[in-house]
Amino acid sequence: MKNDVIIACDFKNKADTLAFLDRFEGKKPYVKIGMELFYGEGPDIVREIRARGHEIFLDLKLHDIPNTVKKAMANLARLGVSMTNVHAAGTIDMMRAAVEGLELGSNGPRPLLIAVTQLTSTSQERMQRELLIAETIENTVAHYARNAREAGLDGVVCSPLEAGLVKTACGADFLTVTPGIRYPDGELGDQSRVTTPQKAREIGSDFIVVGRPITAAADPVAAYERVCRDFLKGE
Ligand code: C5P
Repeated sequence: MKNDVIIACDFKNKADTLAFLDRFEGKKPYVKIGMELFYGEGPDIVREIRARGHEIFLDLKLHDIPNTVKKAMANLARLGVSMTNVHAAGTIDMMRAAVEGLELGSNGPRPLLIAVTQLTSTSQERMQRELLIAETIENTVAHYARNAREAGLDGVVCSPLEAGLVKTACGADFLTVTPGIRYPDGELGDQSRVTTPQKAREIGSDFIVVGRPITAAADPVAAYERVCRDFLKGE
């Protein structure tokens, strides 16, 4: 499995996104497209960025009954994305249906499928009080990750600080895709549990998802190259 840096393209529309990608000239970074852009611009935004030669992580976090998720996933696979995701809270049956849908819609190898365990915006206190999950966050993340592996998924999205825990629970081959990347000299924004690209790699991240440290940089291409150098060192 190839490690990579994924740029979170959290732009408000297609024009801003394409203008950003144009700055990379010959380079074709792996990009993440999320709900805001997808719901605003529709599936054509995925087709267009794909046609420009980028690999795409389509971050739509599906969570519905298995039959609906299966059919939706078949459509996402037809868009030619490389990676997509579901909420592990949808159950093992739902995650299995998601894998089946991706296989149905793919010509060649299916896109990677990863699960969201607990959102990093959910505190342990709220998870216990509002969702009635009495366990610790760590136990819940490890358990949902094992469910995802049992369902045939490829990995999970998690905090880089949880990547080691996930590898211990599910094995070294189970992928960890981690946002929450920051440099000590950069802005935290709304992230709190963060680490650097180097440290994320040491702890066990396979893919890092980096947004503002690249998209809001004065020179995004130089910022992207710095992150790649630090994360992919030695490859
Ligand atoms: O700008 P920043 O580097 O914080 O962007 C991180 C990206 O990863 C955003 O698109 C954010 O929505 C996403 N994300 C996250 N934490 C999660 C899941 C996704 O920051 N737990």
